[in-house]
Amino acid sequence: MRIALLPGDGIGPEVVAEARRVLEALGLPLSFEEALVGGAAYKATGHPLPPATLAVARASDALLFGAVGDPDCDALDRHLRPEQAILGLRRELGLFANLRPARLYPELADASALRPEIATRIDMVIVRELTGDVYFGEKGIRTTPSGLRQGYDVMAYDEGEVRRIAKVGFETARARSRRLCSVDKANVLETSQLWRDVMIEEAAHYPDVELSHMYVDNAAMQLVRNPGQFDVIVTGNLFGDILSDQASMCAGSIGMLPSASLDAAGKGLYEPIHGSAPDIAGKGKANPLATILSAAMMLRYSLGQPEAADRVEAAVAQALAGGARSPDLGGARSTREMGDAVLAVLQAAIV
Ligand code: IPM
Ligand code: MG
Repeated sequence: MRIALLPGDGIGPEVVAEARRVLEALGLPLSFEEALVGGAAYKATGHPLPPATLAVARASDALLFGAVGDPDCDALDRHLRPEQAILGLRRELGLFANLRPARLYPELADASALRPEIATRIDMVIVRELTGDVYFGEKGIRTTPSGLRQGYDVMAYDEGEVRRIAKVGFETARARSRRLCSVDKANVLETSQLWRDVMIEEAAHYPDVELSHMYVDNAAMQLVRNPGQFDVIVTGNLFGDILSDQASMCAGSIGMLPSASLDAAGKGLYEPIHGSAPDIAGKGKANPLATILSAAMMLRYSLGQPEAADRVEAAVAQALAGGARSPDLGGARSTREMGDAVLAVLQAAIV
């Protein structure tokens, strides 16, 4: 099984290195190929997503991605900025379905931004559409008739795009508690009205799943008021971007949340939802657990290794229970020491 490793910028290389060590400890026939992406690729080749990287990505069975984003590149034309690498991979590989599970490990209740008695109930999956919406619509900066500069980004979804992510939402809900909450802004946006109409149409195929709808502003409020009410959320690209960051802090730390971005055939890119954190890059302060948990999702969804995925997830839980805490979790363990803690549990379990 061929895995493309795309460490990227900032803390990306540090956290991907720990996930690789964990994968290598599993004794599976995995091979790894590294490729440049993001600001690192721009600096070496002049493009954030060079053709060679895309070729490695296409030839692999799954991709493990770190993070992109580099303040040195902020002044570049948009198409050369590091973020274009992840957007380009999502588009080129057709990775339209983004699964972002958020759950609170009981040991981390004190790390949540919420009161412990509210936070302990968090266990949800946000299903985010990933290749449409305002992210990929026509955009630019133009001049109005009165001579003012005007920025614009078109928000649009066609019904096919909504239908295929609806299916992922319903299937995800079916495998969990059979409750699906679709988040939109149908009281204001036509795009959302169509979204809602298609969700209702698709619900007819899933009579065993209870569909509800919520406006995104209310969802943001409910996520901090009573996050336990959510099980599976399905939403568009922009709303999902925002709500998943929010959910991560409710669940303890943005350093804990993995994600899977899947195409129609189940091939996927796996990445922590956090960014490149340039302020702490190279200092060994980053929490690698979101990336290690992303590797577990990769084993489950793209590599057909659910037992190995369970082992990795159990090892993370046990490392946390044993007191492993990086700075974002209120502790002092380094990136490498957090990886060591997970490996120690895995190796003890193998023997
Ligand atoms: C994410 C990130 C990306 C996004 C950025 C880096 C383009 O915030 O994966 O959530 O907005 O999708
Ligand atoms: Mg984001």
